[in-house]
Amino acid sequence: LNTNLYLYDGSWIGESCLESLIDFQQNFQAQDTDIILVTTPKSGTTWLKALVFTITQRFQYKISDENHPLVTTNPHGLVPFFESYRSIAAGMPRLFATHISYTMLPESIKTSKCKIIYLCRNPRDTFVSMWYFGHQIMSKLDPSSQFPSPEECLEQFCEGVIHYGPFWEQILQYWKLSNEMPEKVLFLKYEELKGDIIAQCKKMADFMNCSFSSEEENDGVIKDIAKFCSFEHLSNLEVNNQTEERSVPRLDNGMFFRKGEIGDWKNLITTSMAEKLDQFVEQKLQGSGLKLN
Ligand code: A3P
Repeated sequence: LNTNLYLYDGSWIGESCLESLIDFQQNFQAQDTDIILVTTPKSGTTWLKALVFTITQRFQYKISDENHPLVTTNPHGLVPFFESYRSIAAGMPRLFATHISYTMLPESIKTSKCKIIYLCRNPRDTFVSMWYFGHQIMSKLDPSSQFPSPEECLEQFCEGVIHYGPFWEQILQYWKLSNEMPEKVLFLKYEELKGDIIAQCKKMADFMNCSFSSEEENDGVIKDIAKFCSFEHLSNLEVNNQTEERSVPRLDNGMFFRKGEIGDWKNLITTSMAEKLDQFVEQKLQGSGLKLN
């Protein structure tokens, strides 16, 4: 989980991202209408990208259209990470994604009226999803290598020495901002999306100033969008099953869809490891009013 990381501005950043991160920080000019999606890695970034794209572009692209961009392109190809922000296709509003802390965001994101949607997930499932992802990447890059055990990786996770870590600092930062500036930062949890996707889609649309009309609600538009962006639908699309490198270098589209469930941690880590992680997280979040389980 933690190869070639550099401590930069208080976060651990992969060597291959450093240059583009600095470029993004120094040169990105936010517009008031931009939407910035910020997530902890493996918390449902792919899902959030799909949802926000579909909601904001719903007048341009009908989901009934067989050529809807999400049917032909992996969500990561539609909403670029900061690493490739220069190649963004013109669209309204412009959508960008990143995993960096608020402190590290370019100044223009903070000073303009653009909006930030933040998504996190319970640390047990985030960790397990990350472990499988790392394992998969490693077995592609170097099939003969031994990927560290879940025990070893959990230690690194709690030390915060993982891509964009420490995760709790970032989560707390956006949590506080969402309370102080609710019109600027919307704070979401993967489990809440799973729990009531319709309510969460409405919340996102209201936040982005593109609320669903009562006519749309009556026509079942929100339900259709939720179904269209569901794990079941997206993971079965041909484009998301291609093994060639299409989205991010070295990553296949299919790698972003594994199980999409709550509670899969049970299949990788023991209850005592999970409880230790819970205690650790509870301590870090103490006094914030935020719960992640
Ligand atoms: P699991 O590994 O637990 O299955 P990210 O997109 O931030 O990399 O996160 C990946 C996680 O989100 C994976 O979790 C993946 O299966 C899950 N995921 C991807 N698309 C999803 C969707 N449409 N709905 C729910 N979960 C999804």
